[in-house]
Amino acid sequence: MSDSTFPANFRKLDVTVRQQIWQQQYLVTDDERAIAHGGIAAAELADLMVEASVGFLAVPLGIASGFWVDGCPYHLPLAVEEPSVIAAAGYAATIIGKAGGFITTAGEPLVQSFVYLESVDASGEQRLVAARDRLEAELAPVLAGLTRRGGGLRGIRVYRLAETALVALELNIDVRNAMGANIVNTAAETLKPMAESISGGRALMCILSNATPERRAQASFNLPFSVLQPYCRGLKAEDAARRIVLATALANEDPARAVTHNKGIMNGIASLALATMNDTRAIEAAAHAWSCRSGKLHSLTSYTIDGNTLCGTIDVPLAFATVGGSVDLHPVARACLRLLGDPDSMKLARLAAALGLAQNFAALLALVSGGIQGGHMRLHSARLAYKAGARGQHTRQIAERLALRNTYTLDAAKEELAALKGDTDA
Ligand code: MEV
Repeated sequence: MSDSTFPANFRKLDVTVRQQIWQQQYLVTDDERAIAHGGIAAAELADLMVEASVGFLAVPLGIASGFWVDGCPYHLPLAVEEPSVIAAAGYAATIIGKAGGFITTAGEPLVQSFVYLESVDASGEQRLVAARDRLEAELAPVLAGLTRRGGGLRGIRVYRLAETALVALELNIDVRNAMGANIVNTAAETLKPMAESISGGRALMCILSNATPERRAQASFNLPFSVLQPYCRGLKAEDAARRIVLATALANEDPARAVTHNKGIMNGIASLALATMNDTRAIEAAAHAWSCRSGKLHSLTSYTIDGNTLCGTIDVPLAFATVGGSVDLHPVARACLRLLGDPDSMKLARLAAALGLAQNFAALLALVSGGIQGGHMRLHSARLAYKAGARGQHTRQIAERLALRNTYTLDAAKEELAALKGDTDA
């Protein structure tokens, strides 16, 4: 099959030629061309970052202010397309900040990688167990740099999987500030020939696990009802708090609700991951797997009431990196880390945990009091105005008119634009 749009050698063409093909055929409006054209520096970076690049997809970057974490103020950079995410994070941070903010902790940045072996008999498995020192010695040069930086090998485990009868050689590696995928995959591949020859088996694959169950971060807050009260939209604070606890019990009972509850938590965490060019998919996969560890989907957050105080906590794997990969390559990601005070990976994970908890608290407070659509639709109205063709100050003006009418449709936005232009032209 041939496709005249994208020549067979598309990925091998010079980046400027690929961009031309993309831009000439698919960027049809002036807006599209202006926004998608990242300039020469961006083109060069995109070409380094991915195969067959044609440009950058610009995602809005915003800052959620007002976070107090472990006694210090933070402004969190979030890259996200959803209008309410940054607003909700900042709103929750402000409320929780009035009660002292978040307390956070994080586990060591441990990542597991595996050599999975087939056709290993019981004696081969035993030989592998007995060869731990040789395996460690083989790994030492590969992990020397990491070991110098305080990380390195923390353990080797051998076990047989019941269903496939594969033997797993598990390496447990402290990757310090890296996400760690490259180093731990290299470590597993380095051991493959030795593991095969010692066990008499054949490797099926060598790969890390993104589960990282020890690389978790925790955040918590204590919110006295007196601080919560002004934000409860007609409810008594104790009733709002009770309903937040009940909403979390609902997520723990009904997986249909848990998916959305946890999605809201990841709204913030994934946006921070993107702003710092972390691996959003790995972080999402680990969080959702962790929330399902009992065999049933559960909330990543929990809430209790202690006297006159609502207490919120989160505990979630967060394999955030501050070096390596795209993190210290992308200039905007570097600037975002600078904004955070150049944290190490554990500190960044702690900030992400506080953010996830804030996001969840904001969503639950809105859901159990007045509902979320009022706020969402007000934010959405400016987008409708933009889609209707409004630009500049017209966009906000039309958004305000839609909010006054409480009508959030594209047709209404077009009517308002026509009326506004009529007003302006007159
Ligand atoms: C929307 O992106 C996130 C929420 O649906 C989360 C939730 O329902 O908890 C508001």
